[in-house]
Formats: sequence, C-alpha cells, structure tokens
Amino acid sequence: MALSCVFAFLLVAVFAVSIGTAFRGSDKFKSKQFTFECPMEYGVFANPANCRRFYTCNGNIAYDTPCPSPLYFDDAKKLCVYKSKDLQCGPVPVTTPVPTTPDPNAALSCHPSCKLPDCFCSEDGTLIPGNLLPRETPQMIILTFSGALNVLNGEPFGYLLNETRLNPNGCPMRATFFVPHEYTSYYYVQKLYGQGHEMSVQSITNREPEEFWSQASTEDWVEEVIGQKEIMHKFANVSREDILGMRAPFLKPGGNKMLEVIYDYGLDYDSSLAVPYSEVPLWPYTLDYSIPHKCLPGNCPTRSFPGIWEFPLNTYTSDDETGGSCVFMDQCVFPDDPEQIYNFLVYNFLRHYTTNKAPFVLNFHVNWVTDDAKVSALDVFIDYVLENYPDVWFVTMQQAIQWMRSPMPSEMVKSFEAWKCPRTRTPGCNIPRTCRVKLHDGSRTELRYLQLCGKCPERYPWLHNIRGTKEAKRVKDLVQKSTV
Ligand SMILES: *[C@@H]1O[C@H](CO)[C@@H](O)[C@H](O)[C@H]1NC(C)=O
Ligand SMILES: *[C@@H]1O[C@H](CO)[C@@H](O)[C@H](O)[C@H]1NC(C)=O
Repeated sequence: MALSCVFAFLLVAVFAVSIGTAFRGSDKFKSKQFTFECPMEYGVFANPANCRRFYTCNGNIAYDTPCPSPLYFDDAKKLCVYKSKDLQCGPVPVTTPVPTTPDPNAALSCHPSCKLPDCFCSEDGTLIPGNLLPRETPQMIILTFSGALNVLNGEPFGYLLNETRLNPNGCPMRATFFVPHEYTSYYYVQKLYGQGHEMSVQSITNREPEEFWSQASTEDWVEEVIGQKEIMHKFANVSREDILGMRAPFLKPGGNKMLEVIYDYGLDYDSSLAVPYSEVPLWPYTLDYSIPHKCLPGNCPTRSFPGIWEFPLNTYTSDDETGGSCVFMDQCVFPDDPEQIYNFLVYNFLRHYTTNKAPFVLNFHVNWVTDDAKVSALDVFIDYVLENYPDVWFVTMQQAIQWMRSPMPSEMVKSFEAWKCPRTRTPGCNIPRTCRVKLHDGSRTELRYLQLCGKCPERYPWLHNIRGTKEAKRVKDLVQKSTV
C-alpha cells in the first residue's frame, strides 16, 4: 500500500518534470507565470514547494518571488520573516469570504457630482486633482513614521529632519508620525510636534493578535484611537485640532466601523488601505464613493463617508527582484547596503514623478532611523531629490490635503499659505521628566517608565484610563464633558 503510494507520487513527479521541460522549450510560455494558480486575484501566497519563495498575484497573474536571504515566507503573516518556531511554512488555507447579500447602503462608484474641495475621486484613482497636467503638479513626498518614539530612536530624527533641510519656499521639510501609546515618550512627541511635524494616531495598545483590529467594535476604535488622541493632547500638549489622522495597527483596517469613528469624532483622514502594485500609482481620494482599487488587506470601508480622505498605501517594488514588494519600506528587505536601499527609494520615487505625480508616501517604522545603512540611504535620498527636483516638497498629510482641496500649479505653490513655515508652537522642555507609574490592565500590574515634560500621572495612562488617574476614565465617560 505504502509502496504504491510512493510509486504514484513518483509517476506524478516524472510527469510534472516532463511537462515542465516541454514548456521550457517553448518561448511562448513564461514558466514563471503559469505554474501557480492564484487562489485570489490579488495578494501574496506561499510557494507550496519552497518556503524561501512566494507568489505575488496581480490580476490573477502569479509572479514567483524570492524572499531576500536569509528570510522565509510566512503565509499567515504574508511576509518574509526570520526563521522561528512560529514560522508558517507553506500555504495556509485561503478563507473565501461568505457571499453576503448586497448592502443597500454601499457607496456608489465615483460620480461627476463629486467636486473639490470636499469630494475627490476618479474611476481608477490615478487622476490628478484639479485636472492639472503632471508637469504642472508639485511632487509631494510624505515621510511617515509608525511606532513608539522614545529614547531609542528620538535623537536621530533631529538629524534626519534637520531644520536646515528646506522645501522650495525656504521652510523646513516636515513629516507625519503615527503614534501608538505603549513605550512612547511624550517628550519626543512634544519636541517633534514643536518643530512643526504632524502627530497622527495609531492606537493605545497596538495589541495582538493582528486580527483583533479587523474584528474590533466601534467602541474598541473609540477607546483605542480617540483615547490615544486624548493622551497625546494631555501628555504632549498636542492641540486637538492638529490631530486629524489615523492609521490602523498592523495595517488591519476595521472597515466601516473604523470609518464611523473617524467620521463621528472629527478626524479628517485615514491611511490604512494597502493597494496592489500598479504602474501608475494612486492619488489619495475621499470616501464619498466606493474605493477605486482592490482591497489588499481585506475589510476596507464599503459605505460612504463624505469628506474623509484616504491616503492609500501604494505597493513599492523594484525593477529586479531584490527587496521584493511591500507597503512599508522596512518590510522589503535589503542587504545592509545603503546604495541598494537608495536605489530602491529612487526607483519608486521616479514611478510617481514620471507618471501622475501622486504623492510619494514613504512608510517607515520608527526603527528605520536606528539602522545605519537605512538612515544613511534615506539621508542621501532626501538630499538628492531636494537638489535635483525643484518641484519636490516634503509635506505632512494635512498639508497634502490642503493642496488637494485647492490644487494649484507648482509655480504658484511657493506662496501657498498652508505650506508656509509652521506657526510657532510652544516648545516642550529640554530635560524630560521620567515617571515611574503602575500599569493596571485587568489582573496584570506592571511598572512602567513614562517620559514627558509636564506632571507625572498617578497611573500609566492606558486603555479605559486615558488620564492615568486612580479612578479610571474611558473616552466614553469623557465625551459628554469635553468636546472630543
Ligand atoms: C543640522 O545640520 C546642521 C548643518 O549641517 C548641523 O550643524 C546641525 O548639527 C544639524 N542638527 C542636528 C539636530 O543634527
Ligand atoms: C500647551 O500649548 C498651548 C498652545 O497650544 C500653550 O498655550 C500652553 O502654554 C501649553 N502648555 C504647556 C504646559 O506647555
């Protein structure tokens, strides 16, 4: 019995090899593109035969892609990762969504009645606002950093975002930070905010498992996201009016529930929706109408949220296969060679600059700046574009929205009010205070260190206790009292 099984397997193997050889002889077939059948039209999938490779499906065409050495493809995480005992080698079953009856409240597709400044859409998401020509359009570059700012990474930002690096109007370049709470030093938040950078929200806990976020309730989003906005306001003195955006932890969007919270609590934008690779990148759009792209992470909003902007995450890639493709720069993996990383940045920049000038959003995790090769590549890249492209601007997401609401050609943008030098904000402090405070979370009690400029709270601020007081307060309890 066992023997015949082995024999059958061998037969199949021989058969497969001979087919393979037959096709290899013919130039018509790229073996790359047909040996693997895409389980879904878009996405990345394990290579069943080799844990060091995976397939990228783009419109049902599979591209065989290697993980950079020494990484392995984890089909649960959909990423190349270091080998560990949790590694999910080989395909995990694809869960096909249960067909549902059509939602009568689903957003309609882009309609000509959508007009700036409050509404912007295009059929395939690639059109420039205001019908500008690419050559008249300023190229915005938006540096975004996700993750906890603290003593491990705070100082290098001073160097990278040096005040001497200027946009064409003579004002310092600016970046956008997506700030989670745990391990964050509000001293650095206040410092970077004081310098004119934008503070946006991630969540209080950034908790795992990642799937939590796809399933989270409206109340979870309120406590986690609006709670974090309140914490940044209280402990880093970031003005509430300046906190206008969010990004879902692990880029796991919470569908309509997450958008309801953005809409109801006065945020202006989201940046959580990953987009499959396209030769012409997508512009940000408002969620009045249905999203103009495939929803790579699943669970994108399907209803209409008028006036809320979405900064989709265009997939980065490279001309050869080094680095793979990713929506967070640090998820593409490079050897520790600044030149290769630099080339990757330039290659992706040019895809925007030479097509439709869609804002080039560079997504990093904060620890990018603690890696010498990576930070030096970014450093050289910033100098290169500022020196060679007079229509390149490093702006925040809020500044990008302001331009999209009233698009104007490059030559007029130097006098654009919203891109002028930041009004002075109250600086934080030169020497932070370090508070030793207890974190109570269910039955768990831990000691935490919290860095800030103001007074120490009695407890570590946390989910359901955003003020860090003895008597816990939820966002829910505070909403009536303060205008969130
Ligand atoms: C910014 O650049 C200037 C000139 O290169 C340098 O003197 C200064 O130390 C830099 N600032 C920081 C915070 O690194
Ligand atoms: C907080 O910022 C406001 C301006 O937004 C300023 O008036 C106030 O003095 C600041 N408070 C502290 C403690 O820095």
